[in-house]
Amino acid sequence: MEGINFNQIGVSFKGSGSYVPKQILTNHKISDKVDTSDEWIKSRTGISQRRIAGLEENVTQMGYKAAMSAIQMAKWDVETIDLIVLATSTPNDLFGSAPAIQAKLCANNAVAFDLTAACSGFLFALITASQFLKGGSYKRAIVIGADQMSSYVDWNDRRSCILFGDGAGAIAIEATNEFDNLIGFNMRTDGQRGSFLNLPSKNKKDSIIDKIEYSSGGFSPVQMNGQEVYKFAVREVPLIIKDLFKKVNYNSDKVDWLLLHQANQRILDSVGDKLKFSKEKILSNLQNYGNTSAGTIPLMIDEAIRNNTIKQNDIIATSGFGAGLSWGAALIQWG
Ligand code: UT7
Repeated sequence: MEGINFNQIGVSFKGSGSYVPKQILTNHKISDKVDTSDEWIKSRTGISQRRIAGLEENVTQMGYKAAMSAIQMAKWDVETIDLIVLATSTPNDLFGSAPAIQAKLCANNAVAFDLTAACSGFLFALITASQFLKGGSYKRAIVIGADQMSSYVDWNDRRSCILFGDGAGAIAIEATNEFDNLIGFNMRTDGQRGSFLNLPSKNKKDSIIDKIEYSSGGFSPVQMNGQEVYKFAVREVPLIIKDLFKKVNYNSDKVDWLLLHQANQRILDSVGDKLKFSKEKILSNLQNYGNTSAGTIPLMIDEAIRNNTIKQNDIIATSGFGAGLSWGAALIQWG
């Protein structure tokens, strides 16, 4: 960074990348473990299979791979990257995994940090990174969403384990002084409803010496009230997108793609209906990956860019939602 550039007014989208683990866990295989069926999971969620990180795979490694392919698409020299923001709730290191990704990338001039907002994490990280670019402090940023939910799911709880998978995605954004392809955004949280979806710390009471007690660290598996999260998503997501459209004077007709956090196909369909998006405009890949938390949005973007579904200058309405509770929306133009 060499001082603030007040001419930078917006961001442009330069590249995308993604990585999913090699191991595939199908619905059929899950039904060997818990009392469920392929038919139940498919009809209630749209999911057929998910990827599970093997012993050699983790958030740092997945995030690195996704970031590297976004950098290659952008044709950037790694030394020119100023900022790396990693959205994750499942880092390898609670002190932060972004610097480890920076080191693997050899992005020696970048500052790297983690941001935690569960399934809204990628969207919040994109908006956060964009502010550094628009403010003129930094020129080039990599935004990564990566999660390894398999480490924190209770694999005996059929109400939640069927939903989640592991994966990562990343995008490369650059400051511009001509236009702003992050057309607008909205962000919300409501801690009052936080108990609907948690990955809470599980502390064990212990003492260091006499009369000095402490709690040793650890985590309980994911706890989810599926019905409440479902109701929250189908109510709040259309509202926050409608509000964003109003703010920036847009409507569904002007938008090419609706790209929601991939949690449940029924949520995607319901939100799409409420916003009057035709089915063909709703991007979905959760059949193959399930809910990869902060990974879903950039994973979907990368897939759609690489198979030429999303094209240069396409307008995308995107929304992340989940634990916190947290939710947000952004309207972007690819390119
Ligand atoms: O990033 C945000 C992450 N979370 C979400 O997006 C979750 C949103 N919620 C959902 O996607 C849905 O609520 C679920 C897919 C989790 C559950 O679907 P549902 O249609 O809301 O099912 P339910 O909880 O109302 O359960 C209906 C029945 C129950 O049986 P009874 O009590 O009616 O006899 C459950 O015990 O289905 C049963 N059930 C299952 N049966 C077979 C719950 N999970 C399963 C299962 N297999 N895996």
